[in-house]
Amino acid sequence: MRGRFITFEGIDGAGKSSHIEPLAARLRSAGLTVLVTREPGGTPLAERLREVLLHAPMDALTEVLLVFAARRDHVSQVIAPALARGDTVLCDRFTDATFAYQGAGRGFDLTQLEALENWVHAEVQPDCTLWFDLSAEQAAQRLTGARAPDRFEQQSPAFFERVREGYLARAESFPQRFVRIDAAADRESVGRQVAAALEGRI
Ligand code: TMP
Repeated sequence: MRGRFITFEGIDGAGKSSHIEPLAARLRSAGLTVLVTREPGGTPLAERLREVLLHAPMDALTEVLLVFAARRDHVSQVIAPALARGDTVLCDRFTDATFAYQGAGRGFDLTQLEALENWVHAEVQPDCTLWFDLSAEQAAQRLTGARAPDRFEQQSPAFFERVREGYLARAESFPQRFVRIDAAADRESVGRQVAAALEGRI
């Protein structure tokens, strides 16, 4: 038995995270066993690596290796066992974020990212990826005045435009699993888009 693996992606400020718990609640009331988790993070070790990734200065290769180290622990300890039990896994970011942020954003070699992906989790891939798409300018406006920005949130609008382009490239490469959500719409409309995207997939 294999459960469904749903991932949520988008640039910082796109608003994806606030739609995950409401979706989990709806799926649970429909009788599914749902696990909500996030990356970087999702295990005690990966949460410690998250703190380092978000706050310690480092070069791009160190960043990539830490992201995949955290992912390795998360996949082997949490995601793969949950899918094997038949649970539905809702994960706030996964490897598409590495292609978008480290690949498109930082300019890290995509072939090397693919090699790491195959090494770390070749057999665990999302069934569906909800991509919350918003311009870098609108996302920056939403983040203004929020808590102190971390290493990623401090990046320039140009960085986030590259990250957005990175997500677009991933969506074009994997059209069968990617669903674009218009994150510029109001909250209710975004919620309806999320529900519609998953209809027939879960
Ligand atoms: P979050 O704020 O959505 O929880 O994500 C934390 C930050 O980590 C976010 O700015 C994106 C970044 N990130 C990467 O750069 N690469 C990755 O592979 C992941 C999962 C997150």
